[in-house]
Amino acid sequence: MPKTIAVLRGSPRAESLTEKLARGIELAVGDRLSFRDIPVHGLPLYNPDLEKDADHPEWTAFRQAVKSCDGLLFVTPEWNRSVPGGLKNAIDIGSRPYGQGVFQKKPAAVVTQSTGGTGGFGSNHALRQSLVHLDAHVLGQPEMYVGNLSADKFGDDGRISDEGLAKLIDGFADSFVAWVERF
Ligand code: FNR
Repeated sequence: MPKTIAVLRGSPRAESLTEKLARGIELAVGDRLSFRDIPVHGLPLYNPDLEKDADHPEWTAFRQAVKSCDGLLFVTPEWNRSVPGGLKNAIDIGSRPYGQGVFQKKPAAVVTQSTGGTGGFGSNHALRQSLVHLDAHVLGQPEMYVGNLSADKFGDDGRISDEGLAKLIDGFADSFVAWVERF
């Protein structure tokens, strides 16, 4: 049975390129892994005070969903040179209670994208740093900064139709599958 990967996406936008890219990656991986989309936008803002008496049900559900998966795939744009707030909030939620973070020891990969040329370099590194701190096993190579992304790089079936991008994603897919299998 294939391992299950939690997919955490950084954009809440309806026509999100992040969502298209995540789907393109899933299709490139095929049946080697199983993917589970875990929504992060709309989670209540993390506040340690709220954990003192009773846990917040939406936080608990998010933590359990991530915990139940074997690995993590983060796909996100860059907002103001960093991680979009909704995704950062989810990471803060998943990191607590202290010492019981749900990301720890899980194989993970970070893919960032941008319509511009820098491919979300800033958000990629910010996210990677948080995950390293939280003791996730983050794939080192290939680093995935997908620049100049546009909707016309995808076919109607959701597969990546742009030859260069498809090749990049195929290579990433192989490395990610092999990485997850190591744990
Ligand atoms: C952006 N965008 C952006 N792009 C970039 O390369 N560097 C940046 O710092 C920012 N900052 C930024 C802030 C805010 C608030 C928005 C709304 C957008 C552009 C954006 O990341 C880019 O167009 C993505 O491709 C959009 O991804 P989705 O929403 O289509 O998944």
